[in-house]
Amino acid sequence: MKIIVTGGAGFIGGNYVLLMVKKHPEDTIICVDALTYAGNMETLEAVKDAPNFKFVKADIADREAMDKLFAEEKPDVVINFAAESHVDRSITNPELFLQTNIIGTGVLLDACRKYGITRYHQVSTDEVYGDLPLDRPDLFFTEETPLHTSSPYSASKASSDLLVLAYYRTYGLPVTISRCSNNYGPYHFPEKLIPLMIANALNDKPLPVYGKGDNVRDWLYVEDHCIAIDMIIRNGKVGEVYNIGGHNERTNLEVVKTIIRELGKSEDLIRFVEDRAGHDRRYAIDPTKIKNELGWEPTTTFDEGIKMTIKWYLDNKTWWENILSGEYANYYDKMYGEKL
Ligand code: NAD
Ligand code: TYD
Repeated sequence: MKIIVTGGAGFIGGNYVLLMVKKHPEDTIICVDALTYAGNMETLEAVKDAPNFKFVKADIADREAMDKLFAEEKPDVVINFAAESHVDRSITNPELFLQTNIIGTGVLLDACRKYGITRYHQVSTDEVYGDLPLDRPDLFFTEETPLHTSSPYSASKASSDLLVLAYYRTYGLPVTISRCSNNYGPYHFPEKLIPLMIANALNDKPLPVYGKGDNVRDWLYVEDHCIAIDMIIRNGKVGEVYNIGGHNERTNLEVVKTIIRELGKSEDLIRFVEDRAGHDRRYAIDPTKIKNELGWEPTTTFDEGIKMTIKWYLDNKTWWENILSGEYANYYDKMYGEKL
């Protein structure tokens, strides 16, 4: 199969490309990425010369560029990872999220219709379901949970999900959607909770915890997410949504304290800062459908995964130190400067 992977220079797309170029030498992967602040060619170093890999720098919202790409490559499968993905950035600059996440998805869907594909897969998020109350641990998101978004980021992701389902119903485009919980692991951009806390703790810098730190996220090791997507594009049923998650719920404060403990640092580094506007309280996925229909189950527990992730950040300091010293430094100062 010829597979276009958009956003493959980012965190999850990058892990997907690294895994699948090796796992499926019979497939060709064409990575399409605009290389925004979140895209990093260093992530793809290990596969850049592989015979079944190709990189194309392009914006998924650029209709002409996508038309040319699809005409030339005639892909069988398109997996759309490309997105603006950070909730805090969506609060300060929502428009970019509409452009990439909604318009970009629409442009890809049109190209798929025009050139014909066997599968379009949309990588979505559990954030489209909104949040769950902290005092109801019995509640989980299923595929039937109504979409009820909180942030400009999640609203843009829910919009793109609706567009994907509309192209299935109206045009019969063979689509699938996955909605995954929070990922963590190698190559995670240091603006997100886990890599930010690892990098700051290693540099003995304050650890900014929003609000009381009691918000809950359901953490999944990134390779488990990639394997689930691989199963869905091969065996998932067209027109269906699959939730992906591994019942690894932790409060943010628990996560931060685990990182501090693993690195042998002091909890004095923790700073409780002003809460995120509209902050979702709890995410929790019910993964029964993907388990029953496709036999997917996570293989890495949070306790194992967080150790592996910390080790990766210790062993790959240049990857993230290059990011900390670039444009990201301005973002960090604007975002946290006055809070810490
Ligand atoms: P990321 O921000 O690390 O990477 C996004 C990638 O997309 C980058 O390489 C960036 O350069 C590229 N990109 C952005 N705009 C583009 C455009 N207009 N055209 C082409 N490329 C563009 O994001 P991530 O954490 O790897 O998330 C990947 C996908 O998974 C997103 O769709 C996100 O909504 C979804 N998701 C993420 C998580 C998570 O915990 N990170 C959980 C569930 C779902
Ligand atoms: P994040 O990694 O941004 O993912 P998301 O908001 O998509 O779940 O944040 C995870 C949780 O950590 C979220 O509840 C917000 C919180 N958080 C902090 O407390 N401090 C921080 O500096 C960041 C980036 C996040």
